[in-house]
Amino acid sequence: MSNDVPAGEKRPVFAGNWKLFGTLAESVALATDVQAGVAGVDGADVIVAPSFLALATVTARLGAGGPANRVAVAAQDCYWEAKGAFTGEIAPAQLVDAGCRYVIIGHSERRQLMGETDADVNRKTRAALGAGLKPIICIGETLAERDGGTTLAVVERQLDAALRDISDADLGRSLVAYEPVWAIGTGRTATPAQAQEVHHTIRTRVAATRSAAVAAALPILYGGSVKPDNIRALMAEVDVDGALVGGASLSADSFVRIVKEGTEVWLRS
Ligand code: 13P
Repeated sequence: MSNDVPAGEKRPVFAGNWKLFGTLAESVALATDVQAGVAGVDGADVIVAPSFLALATVTARLGAGGPANRVAVAAQDCYWEAKGAFTGEIAPAQLVDAGCRYVIIGHSERRQLMGETDADVNRKTRAALGAGLKPIICIGETLAERDGGTTLAVVERQLDAALRDISDADLGRSLVAYEPVWAIGTGRTATPAQAQEVHHTIRTRVAATRSAAVAAALPILYGGSVKPDNIRALMAEVDVDGALVGGASLSADSFVRIVKEGTEVWLRS
């Protein structure tokens, strides 16, 4: 397994979002167990996203394994300013300094619980790209929006807003995660067909506003109650390029199974 992706080669991506879980010791143990577990997996990009406090320690420990089998590290959020009087915030360059290569942006928990807006998500995405981080931009509808029939319009609005003023080259370093809010932490995953419909809409939107090549290259991850027993069906969908995993990424066993089974399906299809 390697995270050094040759240009133009698309690989499945599996990211574990650890949210607000884990002591420093637990985070290091989980990350090193994941790295050991996926060492034999060829052709996937594997990412873990510990809490801010564990980032530097986890990246230092994972880095010791060498680039050939290195699991990459993401932060769960960042601020859009590079420095200044912004008490409690963390700048993208500080994440790079801590060894991060990715950052999750616009997670629905941040949108819903911390009041993040589409404009904030855009500012954070641009700042992350400016610092050399790869943003994992999260979008997804609430249950009320799905029931109201506005899923595709909501997702397109969030996507357009997040990608405002981002160049095609920068979009080429970005990932999108479709996470229906009603499927997060509920055990109620989207059906593969529901995921595919939205992923296809996202790719079609990028093709229309950018180009077919940019759209084809964009990794679109699915998130929301992904487990070892549903990853195969999700990854079999043509526009599902990987998964952003919450609860099931807190166990190395289940996350490694998701990576292995998901990669196997990807390589076969
Ligand atoms: P769960 O996998 O726990 O549903 O969480 C999904 C998620 O929010 C990942 O970012």
